Amino acid sequence: MTTIDVLFPEVIGTINPNLYGHFSEHIGGVIYGGIWVGEDSAVPNVNGFRTELVERFRRLRPPVLRWPGGCFAETYDWRDGIGPPAARPVTANWWYNWDGRLESNRVGTHEFVKFCRLVGARPYFAANGTSTTPLAVRDWIEYCNFPRGSTTLARRREENGDPEPFGVEYWGLGNENWGGGGNMTPETYGAAFRNYAMVASSVGRGCKFIACGPSDRDVSWTRRFLEAFFAPGHPGSAANLHGLSMHYYCGTAGEATSFSQDQWYELLAKALTMEELVVRHRAAMDTYDPERRVGLVVDEWGCWHRDGSGPSRGANLFEQQSTMRDALVAAMTLGIFNRHCDKVVMANVAQLVNNLHSLFLAQDGFLVATPNYHVFDMMKDHQGAQSVRTVVQTGRIGEVDEVTASCSVQADAALLTLVNARYSDPVEVAVHLHGGAFAGPVSRTVLTAEPAACNTFAAPDAVCPRGDALTASGCRLVQSLPAASVTCLRFGRS
Ligand code: AHR
Repeated sequence: MTTIDVLFPEVIGTINPNLYGHFSEHIGGVIYGGIWVGEDSAVPNVNGFRTELVERFRRLRPPVLRWPGGCFAETYDWRDGIGPPAARPVTANWWYNWDGRLESNRVGTHEFVKFCRLVGARPYFAANGTSTTPLAVRDWIEYCNFPRGSTTLARRREENGDPEPFGVEYWGLGNENWGGGGNMTPETYGAAFRNYAMVASSVGRGCKFIACGPSDRDVSWTRRFLEAFFAPGHPGSAANLHGLSMHYYCGTAGEATSFSQDQWYELLAKALTMEELVVRHRAAMDTYDPERRVGLVVDEWGCWHRDGSGPSRGANLFEQQSTMRDALVAAMTLGIFNRHCDKVVMANVAQLVNNLHSLFLAQDGFLVATPNYHVFDMMKDHQGAQSVRTVVQTGRIGEVDEVTASCSVQADAALLTLVNARYSDPVEVAVHLHGGAFAGPVSRTVLTAEPAACNTFAAPDAVCPRGDALTASGCRLVQSLPAASVTCLRFGRS
């Protein structure tokens, strides 16, 4: 039998709500046709944003939303996205060579901040660190954050409809600068980031700057970037480096909606690799930042299947269906972040709608929540709670642990998330509490379905959670986790 020991006295840290963050890029069908339908659309909308998506997304209590890229950010000029919409330039979207789309700039800074306010998320702006200047970034910060009536840029914001500052706190300075963002070496980017961050911080009091970090296993980028940033004699200020962002995608195994049992485990093994990556990068960061002032950010993560499985049948770049398998990847990944909340300060699943590992798929007047959405919903109460050490003794299938778990506590309420990775078998688990006992009934929510099950416009609830209550007393609870499932147990702790 699998055993789960929840050690309440061993607090890892507070789970930064931003670990449950999101990402929306100007790519394919994410913005146009996804979140934005336009004010004159027949699709119900709030100020141009798809009402149903706004309402459902808001329910997740999304803490933060990254925008406008991704790679798109590296040719984006924020000045194209302000002012009267009809006067905004039409430009070639970064992804033009992939899908031929033009960028209308209809959704710009004001609209995006509006969307964030509608859903209750804080904006995380990914600024261009490749093809504009540090001054352009500085100006964007001034435009967004300066008090009404102060500078010319603040007055322009007012003329454009928003007298009060947007208060944008999170600023990425560059995206994937080891690749699309200028193909830089870590040394070149380290020097560039110091320059951008210094210029931007001159107006960005209180802003949190995030640097481009490594692609998955590239610990050398982490080391060499930090070496360059903290260069002896001319060290950059840690105050200008809130976080270092890693990107990690689980490359597909099989297809999005059809795969063998071996491919199921292959993809889940890739998801569990996130733990190894976090451990390796945080160890490298500790060498240069032993006081741990700089956080690890994972501002793009998720599964990357072949295009074409989503409702647009390939018209929207990178759009894909998400199955129960992707839901397990989401739950396992969020569990890893919970367990490393003493170092990981933000994470953003890629991407919100009509793209990789999406929470929603939308087309015309239709919207469906994917199984990933339900995982975020079930696990949202980990946000802001204290993560406690949870020891799992379980079997292995190849490189995959049968059961993974994370637990958090807020006041006397605990939330324990359990993932059964077995393709077709249930697993018996015994949960032991240490430093507390069950107080009252345990509320249980379970997400389970056939491994390749997914939600479609025709069958939107094929994969959705079911709830019930268990009786428990003392410190021990035995139960069966269904095959291919995510279970959340909520209980009072005495
Ligand atoms: O999420 C899609 C793309 O993947 C992003 O634009 C880029 O940062 C990454 O390579």
